[in-house]
Amino acid sequence: MKFRKVVSVVGAGNVGEHTASLLALRGLVDVRMFDLPKKDGEKSIEPVKGKALDIQQMLSALNIDGKVEGYTVTPDGDGYEALKGSDIVVITAGFPRRPGMSREDLLDKNISILSVIANKIREYVPEAIVIVVTNPVDLMTYAVYRTLGFEKNRVMGMAGVLDSARFKTFISKEIRISPMDIHAYVIGGHGDEMVPLISISNVGGIPLKDTLPRERIQELIKRTQFGGGEIVDLMGTSAYHAPAASIVEMVEAIVTDNKRILPCSVYLEGEVARYYEAEGLCVGVPVKLGNNGVEEIIKIPMIEEEREMWKRSVASVRKNLTLVEEILNARSSL
Ligand code: NAI
Ligand code: 2OP
Repeated sequence: MKFRKVVSVVGAGNVGEHTASLLALRGLVDVRMFDLPKKDGEKSIEPVKGKALDIQQMLSALNIDGKVEGYTVTPDGDGYEALKGSDIVVITAGFPRRPGMSREDLLDKNISILSVIANKIREYVPEAIVIVVTNPVDLMTYAVYRTLGFEKNRVMGMAGVLDSARFKTFISKEIRISPMDIHAYVIGGHGDEMVPLISISNVGGIPLKDTLPRERIQELIKRTQFGGGEIVDLMGTSAYHAPAASIVEMVEAIVTDNKRILPCSVYLEGEVARYYEAEGLCVGVPVKLGNNGVEEIIKIPMIEEEREMWKRSVASVRKNLTLVEEILNARSSL
């Protein structure tokens, strides 16, 4: 009999490894990690098994319960049997951004990788909830949603939690108040046109717009929109500590059924899509997360200026949707 929920993390690179480690440290779930073999000179090695063992030993050092296992897989999809029994699958496999690269540059390569993984998820864990992290995340979430054919409440992309955390960090540093007392949502596509919602952001209940001059807020918005790029330029690769923590927030909300409202990229259709003017694509909106995944999509109010930003952000996601469809159709006819 299974007592603990199982979270599988496919792709144990920077983000996946840190996600697995943080999840294990929280002690709430057992963790399985999946990744390709690597080369050490001529020798083939299995870093994912080593990383899992290392994290398992970290738990022993800290007296934390939990099982962490690593599995080596192939690009063609061999080795995924151990997905069986997973309650949640987090997909962090694929290529990250390098300096000068946009998230869209990653599109073709990452869809190929994620199609294989999604087919394996459908084969081994058709009841799982899936969190997509791979960039460009709104389009990859859409591609995974289409490939899986799961109900839309069980497929979501992580980005808004990260972008909101960045916005909160910048506000907190500016006004020297704990991020715990700052409420700020960033919605829209995970790109340079994401939408930090000023009208509802507040600091200890006081509207943000009353705590800082408008020009300063605009600077913080810009820094948030380019927050991913700022880290890429500094580190030479994309962020992984805050992304991992953001994934953990989402996983915990689902596992503990705490009904938090977090911005996630989800498929929009019907009445809520009409409200958001975003039919038939995945984009970041506030949702209620619980045991059933996305339990409700919240229709958040936007002032006119934000609505205009929102439309631009949706348009920037939609721009590449046809390309995604073409890649998916070409793959399904192979
Ligand atoms: P990374 O290069 O450190 O790790 C990627 C891992 O995926 C590698 O270990 C690689 O071996 C593995 N992988 C590649 N092809 C695979 C396959 N066919 N099957 C299984 N595993 C495979 O990259 P990092 O920094 O961990 O980023 C991962 C992805 O997450 C990137 O696309 C990145 O842009 C995205 N990302 C998204 C964020 C978001 O807010 N949505 C935030 C940060 C990163
Ligand atoms: C980030 O925002 C690159 O999407 C990644 O850090």
